[in-house]
Amino acid sequence: MEILTSALFPSMVWTGLFDDRQTFNAHVLDLAYKMRDSDPDGVANTNIMGWQSKNILQQLEEFRELNDRILAMCRQIGESQNFVPGMEYRHQAWINISPPGASNRIHVHPNSHLSGVYYVSLKAPECGSIFFRDPRTAATMLRPPITKETHFTASEVRMRPEEGRMYVFPSWLEHGVEPNQSDRDRVSMSFNVHVSEPVTGDGPST
Ligand SMILES: [Fe+2]
Repeated sequence: MEILTSALFPSMVWTGLFDDRQTFNAHVLDLAYKMRDSDPDGVANTNIMGWQSKNILQQLEEFRELNDRILAMCRQIGESQNFVPGMEYRHQAWINISPPGASNRIHVHPNSHLSGVYYVSLKAPECGSIFFRDPRTAATMLRPPITKETHFTASEVRMRPEEGRMYVFPSWLEHGVEPNQSDRDRVSMSFNVHVSEPVTGDGPST
């Protein structure tokens, strides 16, 4: 008997690699360090030992190209998943500079539909992987004995970062980043995207 498989409620992670990553990354890497120089304290969030900017890249003209690419990829994903056409995709984005030893604790991104990260500069594989935790809490009840993990039996899945690759996933999917064990900074840009009715500009009537 042939056994057929259906994947119900899969947890998607979409990735895309930019063709012009070398020149594009050189440009945004320069911007990232300039921003850190202008705000050395940054913000404390999920970063352990790392520097994180305020989530303001969406407001900055110099990051327009990155912002456009984030929104373009998320729109393409939304279309592939039958999000209503004509919706407005609003985002926030920020920079992470993780020196050797730095990591990001496991977390989710509340109040967003899609979240993601774009890797600008790193030394793989020592820079550490991004990892995702099984969101099916009921699956932890009794795990079967296995010889090797599959996507069905795994409790965590690791994905090795790659320079020039953008990763997008549902904002509710728990994730973190392993410690950077290389001798170079791991530099990335993270983002949240919210999809909703366009704002028409018509305020409430008085
Ligand atoms: Fe995150």
